[in-house]
Amino acid sequence: MSSTRVLTGITTTGTPHLGNYVGAIRPAIAASRDPSVEAYLFLADYHALIKNQNPDEVAQSSREIAATWLALGLDPETTFFYRQSDIPEITELSWVLTCLAAKGLMNRAHAYKAAVQTNVESGEDPDFGITMGLFSYPILMAADILIFNAHQVPVGRDQIQHVEMARDIAQRFNHHYGEIFTLPEAVIDDHVAVLQGLDGRKMSKSYGNTIPLFGTPKQLQKSINKVKTNLLEPGEPKDADDSTVFQLWCAFADETERARMRQAFADGIAWGEAKKQLFERVNDELAPARARYEHLMAHPGDVEAILISGAARLRPQSEGILAKVRQAVGLRPYS
Ligand code: TRP
Repeated sequence: MSSTRVLTGITTTGTPHLGNYVGAIRPAIAASRDPSVEAYLFLADYHALIKNQNPDEVAQSSREIAATWLALGLDPETTFFYRQSDIPEITELSWVLTCLAAKGLMNRAHAYKAAVQTNVESGEDPDFGITMGLFSYPILMAADILIFNAHQVPVGRDQIQHVEMARDIAQRFNHHYGEIFTLPEAVIDDHVAVLQGLDGRKMSKSYGNTIPLFGTPKQLQKSINKVKTNLLEPGEPKDADDSTVFQLWCAFADETERARMRQAFADGIAWGEAKKQLFERVNDELAPARARYEHLMAHPGDVEAILISGAARLRPQSEGILAKVRQAVGLRPYS
């Protein structure tokens, strides 16, 4: 039996923060070490253009995100690690799928519908600021998934619909042109922690409440000192379950350390002391990766070579399936 192909993409926008690390990067790297899966992990840089049209920011985010995953232990020997834009067959396939995907299906995509609704609510034209990229993005995502015949796609809840659309499009293709694509399935991990940000809401770039992953230790300490607490004095018992400091602690501590900190809260640990311990714990976990990150950012050629080699190993596969697709749809040599 061949192994399960598990594929996921990371849109290359923004700078990685602790929430990305705990909620997505750490579990994905752990999962990629499972010898029974064939892991595909790619930088969705064409997707980044939907959200960001500043070329320098696009280039910078892509470099930072690639270096982040490598620094945190992604092994490019055992995981296929590549840039979407280095596999031209993905965008070629995307057009073929665009000619088959129903517009009505795209009309139902949550991200597009939300953008329309925001426009309508603010009295704008419904299409204001909506590009064809945003509208047809689920088709590009379908091409990402189908080009490598992925079985499973681990995604956050907001992306389930897109994986279902990919499945729908694959089914439509197979029905019309013959069985070429594997039907993918979304995999949701309900155990994945959603980290709280500085203000206690979900840590998210859009809330501006994030703790950057690879700042200097000083910056990390400063961020942690900004985490919201209440006015309880040292010596007053504190409710661990109602504390962002404790929630962050749990994301970095094992069972024993969690129990110890819970007790310290009940015993009235001072907020300053709890934050100091939190900083030390997070910093200890991140320090080796931070050093690797800084090295990789200072040697972009190393990262480039890893990604180029990842794509080179995969091109025979993507070219193979695209050749089948062309044949199937009637783009054939004349002789
Ligand atoms: N759209 C995904 C996100 O924003 C990223 C992504 C692009 C992706 N292509 C993919 C995820 C293919 C899984 C499979 O999170």
